[in-house]
Amino acid sequence: MTPPMKPLMSGMRPTGRLHLGNLLGALDNWVRLQDAYNCFFSVVDWHALTTVYEDPGEISANIREMVIDWVSAGLDPERSVLFVQSHVKEHAELHLLLSMIIPIPWLERVPTYKDQIQQLKGKDLSTYGFLGYPLLQSADILVYQAEVVPVGEDQLPHLELTREVARRFNYLYEPVFPEPQALLNRVRLLPGTDGRKMSKSYDNCISMSASPEEVKQKVQQMVTDPARIHKTDPGHPEVCVVHKFLQVFDTETVGETEDDCRAGRIGCVACKKRLLTRLNAFLDPIRERRALLEGQPGLVDGIIADGAERARRIAADTMERVRAAMKLRV
Ligand code: TRP
Repeated sequence: MTPPMKPLMSGMRPTGRLHLGNLLGALDNWVRLQDAYNCFFSVVDWHALTTVYEDPGEISANIREMVIDWVSAGLDPERSVLFVQSHVKEHAELHLLLSMIIPIPWLERVPTYKDQIQQLKGKDLSTYGFLGYPLLQSADILVYQAEVVPVGEDQLPHLELTREVARRFNYLYEPVFPEPQALLNRVRLLPGTDGRKMSKSYDNCISMSASPEEVKQKVQQMVTDPARIHKTDPGHPEVCVVHKFLQVFDTETVGETEDDCRAGRIGCVACKKRLLTRLNAFLDPIRERRALLEGQPGLVDGIIADGAERARRIAADTMERVRAAMKLRV
């Protein structure tokens, strides 16, 4: 008999439609990990509130969009538990109980805390929720007794905090929680159309749900070798955004294209055409799945309801053990 798969947990804030950078930097990893782990993936709406609490109106629309993006990308709602954080109140209860045992300095020294306050200067982040959100993340993870957490590098301090909190709980009461391991996402670097990091705040993204027309516009905007004026001029693929995309989306012929570019045998227009074909071939199955889900809103509702139910069952079990360990049972 094969041993049961280890529990894995991760989450994403519902901040709007995902772009190709999100897909290749995180979501793709999740899709792959479904084969090896018992996966819990959460749309963490309470986390979104920690920074957009003044303007929560968009969160619920973004939740649906995110679930649609996830399933279109290949997350399988039958195998993995896809759910919305706020539908599983156990996260909040565990967060509260863990707040009894975490020293405040552990939260204050999380590097993202001061960084974010600096970066989001226009917002008042001197709130209790913002200080505590890494602990909420710990609760997200521990409530499923997850052993593995796929994240980007920026999240490593939060994982370290989670391990420390788990250790402290286990030491003070009973050993309930495994210490979860971070699993660094394999990132395939994709720049934005202007060559900077692909990011919503730079307006240089290609959305996962972009139509062929939008993709065409984006590819046309892509920055190529500025030193190249005529098609016969030798090109420098290392400074070209189209080349970086071909390295990801056209692995088979990118070497040939690179040689042709350096030798002045292929022009930027032809190169962009080639990329456009490849990108559309990559996005077509994703688009098809999105169209299917958009056409049947009930499907998405069903996925979200079913995910919440499955998540709750596991989380409720953990909370029974937590309450018992903390002598909270009458
Ligand atoms: N804090 C994470 C981020 O901002 C999102 C997140 C919330 C998360 N809960 C989680 C990630 C649990 C992994 C596991 O990206």
